Amino acid sequence: MSFTVYVPRDASALSLGAEATASAIAAEAARRGIDVALVRNGSRGLYWLEPMVEVAAPEGRVAYGPVQADDVAALFDADFLHGGRHALALGPTEQIPYLAKQERLTFARVGIVDPRSLDDYRAHGGYRGLENALKMAPADIVAAVTDSGLRGRGGAAFPTGIKWKTCLDASADKKYIVCNADEGDSGTFADRMVMEGDPFVLIEGMTIAGLAVGATQGYIYLRCEYPHARDALNAAIAATTAAGYLGNDVLGSDKAFHLEVRMAAGAYICGEETSLLESLEGKRGQVRFKPPLPAIEGLFGKPTVINNVVTLCSVPGILDKGAAHYRDFGMGRSRGTLPFQLAGNLKRPGLVEKAFGVTLKELIEDFGGGSATGRPIKTVQLGGPLGAYIPPSRYDTPMDYEAFAAIGGMIGHGGLVAFDDSVDMAAQARYAMEFCAIESCGKCTPCRIGSTRGVEVIDRMRANVERDRNEALLRDLCQTMLHGSLCALGGMAPFPVLSALDHYPEDFARSA
Ligand SMILES: Cc1cc2nc3c(=O)[nH]c(=O)nc-3n(C[C@H](O)[C@H](O)[C@H](O)COP(=O)(O)O)c2cc1C
Ligand code: SF4
Repeated sequence: MSFTVYVPRDASALSLGAEATASAIAAEAARRGIDVALVRNGSRGLYWLEPMVEVAAPEGRVAYGPVQADDVAALFDADFLHGGRHALALGPTEQIPYLAKQERLTFARVGIVDPRSLDDYRAHGGYRGLENALKMAPADIVAAVTDSGLRGRGGAAFPTGIKWKTCLDASADKKYIVCNADEGDSGTFADRMVMEGDPFVLIEGMTIAGLAVGATQGYIYLRCEYPHARDALNAAIAATTAAGYLGNDVLGSDKAFHLEVRMAAGAYICGEETSLLESLEGKRGQVRFKPPLPAIEGLFGKPTVINNVVTLCSVPGILDKGAAHYRDFGMGRSRGTLPFQLAGNLKRPGLVEKAFGVTLKELIEDFGGGSATGRPIKTVQLGGPLGAYIPPSRYDTPMDYEAFAAIGGMIGHGGLVAFDDSVDMAAQARYAMEFCAIESCGKCTPCRIGSTRGVEVIDRMRANVERDRNEALLRDLCQTMLHGSLCALGGMAPFPVLSALDHYPEDFARSA
């Protein structure tokens, strides 16, 4: 009898010992003469339980975790291959509340399929979206994406269908699809997880985008710190090319789409779409003036669709199940789901895909389990290093782009970082300005000079040097950066600063 055991090869699981766990299972099975097939899946996103090992049982998978290499012999003794009882047993995987309460559309296959197997991808509904798209006119594919209400998941939440239509309407001898896989925001990992755990869905999404706008070449601009995602993507590109899903004649349609992975330069600003294009062209990553929009004049001067990983990975499901199915999730103008990334000081950090409308409170408490230290959570930074700090009085705000904009926050890429009451918010404000100073591309003055002056002003406030006068100066400087910066790095760095100052003034020293 053969048993199938799943041990993630996700980078986070590996950092927690998954490789040693997998080797220990293989060695123990061999020692006991048991036939075990090891599948190296993606992570289910329950990071406090990694390495989480799953066993295929007739009624579904059962989970154990966190399993270290030296737990393995005891698990065999407890007959875990038949779902035996053990202190690390978590029961049927799908019934773990953290997973059962989610609405996984984009992450439907992550942790379930073998990321190296095209057959497994197809067996779980993969490539049905592309097959439908191949029967449609380009304008109808764009219309389906527009009707779904999908907005960009990279941060700016721009309607994807409108961007695609602009590119479709631009006439040129060559067009490009560029996937922004730079994932620079602090506390975010959704792009990495889906690329490692279900790389084919990104390839399918980019191919559909190519058919929709008439682009024949795609590039994935991948964060240079993501070698596991690079390997997963390159293996998947090779498999799909060999099977005719990529190349000069996609599935016999007479339409071409080629795809390559390019390793990024390792700068936060290279995640900004025009800097990204400069970098992809082999130049220094510096922001371009807009207009022209990249959809009209982008990579090498040609019409280019640039979308985030999660945006593109949401497309195959829309083309498979229909725009209405996706649009039925969410609230207001925020349609569909978002993979929220729970990080920082939380008991249960991980990935939670939910429809828009879930509150911050539900994410922090019901999913996150409160702080890991057991102390009260003082604040949550939502939307990366340029996102505002949200105080507990706002935790009931529903996750909706407009609702958060109304309270001076932003959802961005869906990353949230929790802090307990030991955090010094003046230090966090200083960090925001320092981050901006370090990462500034240097093209415009409010950001290049303003961020450095901002650090100095905050230092004076913290030292109680002319505290009130320096607060007025800081607020004035923030207004200049907000309104005078060329891009959102300088234009949003004031958000964390002002939110810290407004909600936690007691952390900024005041003269007696
Ligand atoms: C400083 C800065 C950094 C950014 N970093 C990223 C990033 O790492 N990944 C990303 O998808 N978008 C990032 N963006 C947003 C992109 O400029 C762009 O809006 C996005 O790639 C468009 O794709 P979407 O419409 O699918 O979101 C960044 C923007 C700024 C201003
Ligand atoms: S705001 Fe900063 S990063 Fe953006 S263009 Fe200006 S100097 Fe460059």
